Amino acid sequence: MVTGGLGFIGSHTTVELQQKGYDVVILDDCSNSSEKVLDGITAITGKRPIFEKLDLKEKADVVDFFRRHVDIQGVIHFAASKAVGESVEKPLLYYENNINTLIYILQELTQKEKASFIFSSSCTVYGQADEMPITENAPVKTAESPYGNTKQMGEEIIYDTCKVTPQLKAISLRYFNPMGAHPSAEIGELPIGIPQNLVPFITQTAIGLREQLAVFGDDYPTEDGTCIRDYIHVVDLAKAHVVALQRLMEGKNKENYEVFNVGTGNGSSVLEVIESFERVSGRKLNYKIVDRRAGDIVQAYADTTKANKVLGWKAQSSLDEAMKSAWLWEQKVRAN
Ligand SMILES: NC(=O)c1ccc[n+]([C@@H]2O[C@H](COP(=O)([O-])OP(=O)(O)OC[C@H]3O[C@@H](n4cnc5c(N)ncnc54)[C@H](O)[C@@H]3O)[C@@H](O)[C@H]2O)c1
Repeated sequence: MVTGGLGFIGSHTTVELQQKGYDVVILDDCSNSSEKVLDGITAITGKRPIFEKLDLKEKADVVDFFRRHVDIQGVIHFAASKAVGESVEKPLLYYENNINTLIYILQELTQKEKASFIFSSSCTVYGQADEMPITENAPVKTAESPYGNTKQMGEEIIYDTCKVTPQLKAISLRYFNPMGAHPSAEIGELPIGIPQNLVPFITQTAIGLREQLAVFGDDYPTEDGTCIRDYIHVVDLAKAHVVALQRLMEGKNKENYEVFNVGTGNGSSVLEVIESFERVSGRKLNYKIVDRRAGDIVQAYADTTKANKVLGWKAQSSLDEAMKSAWLWEQKVRAN
């Protein structure tokens, strides 16, 4: 079961799961996606996943779903609201959607004889970490936004539940900065409204949908003065989910709740990301340096040793490869 499977990361993970032979059931309420994504998944894999349009905030519907699908063995839970700024404006909406849905699913899974659960967490749990690269042992800092808090609370809820439910096995994957699209350009990121993330903002600016990219601050204590993040190709990220799920389903986990960073281990500055775009597209990007934006941390990139060694997973794609896929996708979307 893949919740939020029509979304950006969920759709790419569904592709990787199907390509490994898993039968996938997608649950999504299409609040931030479209049913057309199913066509893209089908075009890549040759197999249409089962899809149920369902709002996971409706507890009775979640209960009913699990009654009808007693054979569900693993759940990857992507469904959530994810816009940091909006979460500050509408905290209760974020707590309701990101926490209630998690609780309803866990309530069902704890009644099963055996279940595996993967949770979409985020490097936001680390805030501005004191040391780079960031290991899983870095302290979780006070969340900067209700969105970030839902990820911290989500992890705690899973931890507490696993502690008293030995038959439930869970992994939280702390994503760094997902970007890019499937190389086939059949699926990709489809931000509704103004993109929150750098890469879709770059590609939308280049295609003419936005006038100019604002680079928030070039006076940070980094080499070129712009903020540094760890950009990971969404296909690499999707593969990490398959490996994590396999680990749980094959009983290879050391504890019944584990946490892994999922990043590349490399930090790239905003200007380096822009350069990558200009290199792979052959176009100049219209951007302007403006003042710093409140709440931005200076740098965050992962120590991926644990995922590399324990999961046997490593990101394969370079920033340029990921950027190329993002640009191809943007061009395809706008041509349609
Ligand atoms: N994209 C990122 O940069 C990033 C980084 C770290 C963590 N995450 C987390 O990864 C997960 C997936 O992110 P994404 O970028 O693919 O987001 P997305 O918005 O593209 O996908 C989320 C999907 O969940 C669905 N959904 C939301 N609420 C639902 C509900 N109540 N019932 C059913 N479906 C619902 C949406 O319609 C959407 O298709 C989220 O939990 C997000 O917080 C994302």
